[in-house]
Amino acid sequence: MINNFTRLLIVFWCVGVSANENKIAIASAHSLATQAGFEVIEQGGNVYDAAVAVAAALAVVEPAGSGLGGGGFFLLHRARDAKQVMLDAREKAPLAAHRDMYLDGQGLWLKQKSQQGALAAGIPGLPAALVHLSEVYGQLPLSVSLKPAIRHARAGFKIGARHQRLIVYRLPAILNNPATARMLLDNGETPKAGAVLKQPELANTLSLLAEKGRAGFYAGVVAEKMLESVKQGGGIWRQADLDQYQVIERQPVQGEYRGIKISSAALPSSGGIVLQQSLNILAAYPLPEMGKIERMHMISEAMRRAYHDRAMYLGDADFVEVPVEQLLSLDYAAGLRRSIRPDRALPSAYLAGELQNDAKGRNTTHFSIIDQQGNRVSATLSINSPFGAAFLAEGTGVLLNNEMDDFSSKVGTMNSYGLVGGVANAIEPGKRMLSSMTPTFLESDRHIAVLGTPGGSRIISMLLLAVLDFAGGGDPNAWVQVPRFHHQFIPDRIQFEKGGLTVEEQSALAAKGHQLKEVRYRYGNMQAVQLDKQTLQLKAASDPRGEGAALVR
Ligand code: DON
Repeated sequence: MINNFTRLLIVFWCVGVSANENKIAIASAHSLATQAGFEVIEQGGNVYDAAVAVAAALAVVEPAGSGLGGGGFFLLHRARDAKQVMLDAREKAPLAAHRDMYLDGQGLWLKQKSQQGALAAGIPGLPAALVHLSEVYGQLPLSVSLKPAIRHARAGFKIGARHQRLIVYRLPAILNNPATARMLLDNGETPKAGAVLKQPELANTLSLLAEKGRAGFYAGVVAEKMLESVKQGGGIWRQADLDQYQVIERQPVQGEYRGIKISSAALPSSGGIVLQQSLNILAAYPLPEMGKIERMHMISEAMRRAYHDRAMYLGDADFVEVPVEQLLSLDYAAGLRRSIRPDRALPSAYLAGELQNDAKGRNTTHFSIIDQQGNRVSATLSINSPFGAAFLAEGTGVLLNNEMDDFSSKVGTMNSYGLVGGVANAIEPGKRMLSSMTPTFLESDRHIAVLGTPGGSRIISMLLLAVLDFAGGGDPNAWVQVPRFHHQFIPDRIQFEKGGLTVEEQSALAAKGHQLKEVRYRYGNMQAVQLDKQTLQLKAASDPRGEGAALVR
């Protein structure tokens, strides 16, 4: 609760700032999306209008990562009343879904069905979130904030090398759906970098959303076309699914690490809980004074335990009971620390569970926005795999997600990120699948940071490394460049980015009992901004691994 005096101070501060103009920092995965945010600010919008514009533009210019056919989480902070909230726009299982829908008669997992085509798609949340964000927090109508996205969809944009690579990666799935192939391919071939992608049907769908609000997507002609297309494709959506989809405002997970306040994603994302639990474990160790190997060992051991609990306990808390308070308690973290030895890795099998696979993570998207008043948005949005289910709802321009794969289709079987789960994350009608997306705010005495990244199961460990860098005095430019490593309990090994460890360093970790795997590529696409509370200086940085744009204006 803030008292009247603080409120007065905030008002004076805001007035003071606006007299000197209120600058804004935006970092997103695509320059046209970052520009869309500024375009809307210039028309009198606030950071939430900018977030609507950036999210919608990303849906158009980065169709591999997110879109109207997907969902995500928007973490918001409003400086006026210090309100902090997470908009949960996660997809939901259709009402006709059931626990064993991806198993055959023998109980074998039909992996492809949860990863491509209409049956893989959850009920989208992004359109509802754009409407909610605009109506409740923005100050401009959607007709203004969706304008840049509509323009790029209609006029087209030049595709980049990343888009092209992801088409190659998903080619078999794309070729399985003629409408998707027509949209993304050039006469059945991968388009050349620099080719122009026009999406007139998506422009029409966005225009209907701008004109009619949620009824422009969840009812009327767009809904009819989506339902028909999904039915033809073997899916199970019904109008009742679209009618009952609601964005939910949730309390973010809040915690602390060495004097830094952390706000992050709540369930149905595992992000905030796993991040905070790792930090609670690590808080007792003098990480900055440790050598690289000791530090990596301790951080990996913390990740192992937090990801173990993810697999065991986490799911949509509207459907299952999750011991959130216990998982986040410092006493519980102290208990977990007792099993960590500085000289030895604890095999994951001793923590129970036994599975393995590989984590990917080259899609999904994140953007971060902050203004000098401290208003901010951290949003991670997804359609899951690159181009989602590779299933275009015909006549709408909307690519559907394959987020159903984030459920544990079969207890103990890994999804496409190698993540395992139990009954807490089993499929139920209307339930939200567990996510790793971790949009986050950090606040120290001096700085406020907004950050996040795509990357599947590795999202949370990337955030953890960035928080530790922030605690060590790094700025956005440093966080996005941190060399990355990851442990997710199963498979029982430390993955590290190409070139991240010398042969000697690998031997030193192996001597402690760790298995190691060098990932062939550098992963993640972090977008970060920061406000210096004293000088009001803004900084923005976009991951050098991606093709994003970070600007202060
Ligand atoms: O919600 C999740 O955890 C996943 N659907 C996110 C997927 C992702 O980040 C893909 N990678 N870059």
